[in-house]
Amino acid sequence: MKTDELIDLLNRLLESERSGVKAVSGMLKPLKEGALKDGLKKAKGDEARYVAGLHGFLKRLGVTPSEKIGDFADKLLAIEGIVEQLRFLNRGQGWVARKIEGLLPALTDQAMQDFFTEMLDTHRKNIAWAEKMIEQLSAKVA
Ligand SMILES: [Fe+2]
Repeated sequence: MKTDELIDLLNRLLESERSGVKAVSGMLKPLKEGALKDGLKKAKGDEARYVAGLHGFLKRLGVTPSEKIGDFADKLLAIEGIVEQLRFLNRGQGWVARKIEGLLPALTDQAMQDFFTEMLDTHRKNIAWAEKMIEQLSAKVA
């Protein structure tokens, strides 16, 4: 992978994760305390950690990290109902996971490999967690 391609992808992931923080923050606002809120708080913390990590790698590569926020959050927050929001969140998280799957074999830097391996694993776990929540919440409504 060429360096400019890597930088481009890191910036896109940075914008996505930043949008993830914004999206989850908005989802959290109306929620009462409970398992759903706890899980989303954790997910928000994860997304924020990846924003910081991606920011750091971009700086290390000598570039100014993008300051944009992906439009994912606005799209998600325009959706009505937490179940549909969770579904949309998982689509976004799935996109990130696929990007990382594509990126990992091209990485030679150990710190980046470790970071993205953990980021992929956490995204998969958070997707599985949200799927469980969708199931539970859908069962309650039905
Ligand atoms: Fe994410």
